[in-house]
Amino acid sequence: MRVTVVEDMCQGHTLCAATAPELFLLREEDGHAYVETEVVPAGLEEKAERAALGCPEQAIVIETD
Ligand code: F3S
Repeated sequence: MRVTVVEDMCQGHTLCAATAPELFLLREEDGHAYVETEVVPAGLEEKAERAALGCPEQAIVIETD
């Protein structure tokens, strides 16, 4: 599974980082989210999906292998 944040769509709601802090980091300058590594570590798939569903801007894209 891979996860990315579409930069243009993220509005900095920060729910993703609250749901899955292991996956989503927030930029200091604007509070927008990014991922350090796109590959979701084993065991964090459900959190990644929950974060994607919970993003009000639908800015989180998940690709399953
Ligand atoms: Fe951005 Fe959505 Fe997270 S708007 S900060 S990706 S909850």
